[in-house]
Amino acid sequence: MTDHRPDVTRRASTGFQTVYGEAPAGRWAAPGRVNLIGEHTDYNDGFVLPFALPLRTVAAAAPQADDTWTVWSELTGETVGFGADEVAAPGRVTGWGAYVAGVVWALREAGHQVPGARLAIASDVPLGAGLSSSAALEAAVLTALVDLGGLSLPTEDQPRLAQRAENHYVGAPTGIMDQSATIRCRAGHALFLDCRSEQVEHVPFDLIRAGLAILVIDSHAPHRHVDGEYAARRAGCERAAALLGVPALRDVPAGELDTALARLPDDETRRLVRHVVTEDQRVLDTVALLRGGRIRHIGGLLTASHASMRDDFAITVPEVDTAVEAALTAGALGARMTGGGFGGCVLALVETADADRVAAAVTSAYAARGLTAPTPRTVTPSTGTTRLN
Ligand code: GLA
Repeated sequence: MTDHRPDVTRRASTGFQTVYGEAPAGRWAAPGRVNLIGEHTDYNDGFVLPFALPLRTVAAAAPQADDTWTVWSELTGETVGFGADEVAAPGRVTGWGAYVAGVVWALREAGHQVPGARLAIASDVPLGAGLSSSAALEAAVLTALVDLGGLSLPTEDQPRLAQRAENHYVGAPTGIMDQSATIRCRAGHALFLDCRSEQVEHVPFDLIRAGLAILVIDSHAPHRHVDGEYAARRAGCERAAALLGVPALRDVPAGELDTALARLPDDETRRLVRHVVTEDQRVLDTVALLRGGRIRHIGGLLTASHASMRDDFAITVPEVDTAVEAALTAGALGARMTGGGFGGCVLALVETADADRVAAAVTSAYAARGLTAPTPRTVTPSTGTTRLN
């Protein structure tokens, strides 16, 4: 589907001008992300390998003299305003405004003198597609406020702060992956993140040179019970770690998986542990292949990750399973659901020449099952948060 609207940066600037009657002081962009591999490993202190999308959220902003924040969103056409009292009470600002208030809250909690601000937000990151539109919103606002206030907050400390906004102000118990991806990714690279130490390695991921492409296919599956299911998986993993006497499931070595499984009381817990431990190993194996420039060889790991999410972690739905099967049958080198689960997007690694054919095959498989047509896009690894001028 072609987007005929003006570029997202222009839309944020124009929105600012219309709402506030003057030009913004600056514009800050933060991308959505896809996770190449490493799902539900971040809150288990494990490994992830996301990359940033060329789809971005832009905040146009200017300082405001008092301690208040006013935010306009292109998506809803609403303007939300709040002051220090609402910021100080997590949950007081709700809806999309909570992500903005949460960032102000987290900055103030960390002792920063956050400037009051007017903001206008426009975005090309689809909502509810599992591409981290919320982390992109948090990161665009965070970088805008850090710059406007001249705050001293190194880039590597920003993901944790944005995650606190989401965990404590918005109330979603997510891990550190999405905020790290939107803030720390580099163009042409995937971000290998150790979620315990927060050490990163920018691993070259030059698809074009390898004659390959990544298709990201939005399944449009409605997200059902996502929050409760996510929290239940997380709690189950934490319980399993406690039963095994380790700080987190990351501490179960792949070579000792069978011994660990034998110590667990029930099949459901065993499945959770098997997914996390094998998924961490798949991330390490994928990174090793990418370091050696062997991109086309990662396909099998991607597909194995999907099987593990479907059979062990139980977070896929028929729509994403259909997309993965159809892509593989049409010749994709590997395919998997990406993100938290229960819908969202599938990614498929394909020969560039096969991209259209694989996308068409997925679309026909959906039509044959009477499902809403999916949206396929070819994406390239892009840059993290950027100040635009
Ligand atoms: C969501 C969360 C992340 C991560 C993924 C699953 O995107 O925000 O922290 O847990 O799900 O890998």
